Amino acid sequence: MAYSDKVIDHYTNPRNVGTLDKSKTNVGTGLVGAPECGDVMRLQIEVDANNVITDAKFKTFGCGSAIASSSLATEWLKGKSIDDAMAIDNMDIVEELALPPVKIHCSVLAEDAIKAAINDYRVKNGLEALVAEKSH
Ligand code: FES
Ligand code: FES
Repeated sequence: MAYSDKVIDHYTNPRNVGTLDKSKTNVGTGLVGAPECGDVMRLQIEVDANNVITDAKFKTFGCGSAIASSSLATEWLKGKSIDDAMAIDNMDIVEELALPPVKIHCSVLAEDAIKAAINDYRVKNGLEALVAEKSH
């Protein structure tokens, strides 16, 4: 299967790999796994007092498309409000990276990780979790 140039770019030069301090109340952590393939993704956000995401980091133990999806997701998250981040759909990632159908679930993993991180942040700050993750 041929990967798109954008996948190869994010895979060989992933953005924002790393870890944020999850003990901080303004850091949300999402940890999700793909049952089909066993791949695991951790995505973290740091949020300021105006509900804007100021930093995002990820670590993905998985395929090239999962790494590219999470790398792209962290780029998109920085500077977005929590509400705008919540609206990111995995099909946006599929389009941007030109993922083939067999790799769509890799982008679902990224969307789920974003939502899990936001929910973790919300719960930590006394708010309700917003939506269930897209399950697979
Ligand atoms: Fe792979 Fe859902 S089955 S992410
Ligand atoms: Fe499962 Fe990509 S093959 S996350």
